[in-house]
Amino acid sequence: MKTAIIGGGGRVGSNAAYALQCAGLVREIVLNDVNADLAAGEALDLMQGSSLIADQTITAGDMSALADADVVCITAGSRRKPDESRLDLVNRNVSIFKGILDDLRAANLRRDAIIFVVSNPVDVLTRLAIEHLDWQPSKVIGLGTVLDTARFCSLIAQAKNYPATQVKALILGEHGDAMAPIWSSASVAGMALTKLLSVPEQNELFKRTQGSGAEVIRRKGGAGYAVGASIAEVIHSIALDRRRILPVSSRMTGQYGVREVCLSVPTVVGREGVLEAREIELWPKEVAGIQASGRALQDTWQKLG
Ligand SMILES: NC(=O)c1ccc[n+]([C@@H]2O[C@H](COP(=O)([O-])OP(=O)(O)OC[C@H]3O[C@@H](n4cnc5c(N)ncnc54)[C@H](O)[C@@H]3O)[C@@H](O)[C@H]2O)c1
Repeated sequence: MKTAIIGGGGRVGSNAAYALQCAGLVREIVLNDVNADLAAGEALDLMQGSSLIADQTITAGDMSALADADVVCITAGSRRKPDESRLDLVNRNVSIFKGILDDLRAANLRRDAIIFVVSNPVDVLTRLAIEHLDWQPSKVIGLGTVLDTARFCSLIAQAKNYPATQVKALILGEHGDAMAPIWSSASVAGMALTKLLSVPEQNELFKRTQGSGAEVIRRKGGAGYAVGASIAEVIHSIALDRRRILPVSSRMTGQYGVREVCLSVPTVVGREGVLEAREIELWPKEVAGIQASGRALQDTWQKLG
């Protein structure tokens, strides 16, 4: 499978490429960036480790190199400033993003290519990709709350000294201020977390998760490794048709009463893209959280004009 990363010279794009390289599952990785030298440098550096890691083709290329890509991952865009909400990024990133979508149209992408949006505000840009490109909604996936969910599980594990991979706790809704923690199904090794964590502990861990993006930006300038691993998780589910159920962002068709906007619910992801966006049973306050995300995202969408 050929994966292209637009913005591949940047921190998120290059860290995603490294996560894809370490797993060795996709056949070809192409890095594209408006800063062509930077993309070429990252591709060179990655390629030079390939004899130690995996038999893959890793190159840099312009838009014409994307025409036969199976997955086009878009990480290009401005980063959030420390005190800025993700939705504040809208105005700066929408125009960059529309330009990229126009370039993709001109590049004559395969009509069955999967567009995988990571740039923020990711839920808004995922919807924009569907509408601006007139792409099949099932072939457009946003990273959504995959990273938030990974952070939530990792922070719970760290706080309680649990094995991180055995903690299962979802964040759903918007990748942003309105994200909703899902405690109703949260577990470690099959044991309900609500029975193991006090309510103040739960609130504290969610607060830390919600503030994680800003904390990482403040400390090191921007997220890289965890988001790279999150991107690889989604791309591998596509590449291997794993049909993993992931909190990616996709076009809602009435789940929890939400339509039109893109946000995260448990979603089956396979070779054809979004196979099913599920409505699972949740506590009423969790449903309300997803609906509030839907309203916040619709509001932003309308402000785009
Ligand atoms: N969805 C998530 O969970 C998540 C997490 C972290 C970061 N992000 C987002 O990812 C994006 C990138 O963050 P970063 O830290 O890698 O920033 P960065 O500045 O390190 O990299 C962005 C890259 O995009 C490139 N670029 C800009 N315009 C381009 C264009 N028109 N075509 C091709 N490349 C272009 C830049 O040259 C740069 O190399 C931001 O929007 C950030 O908010 C999303």
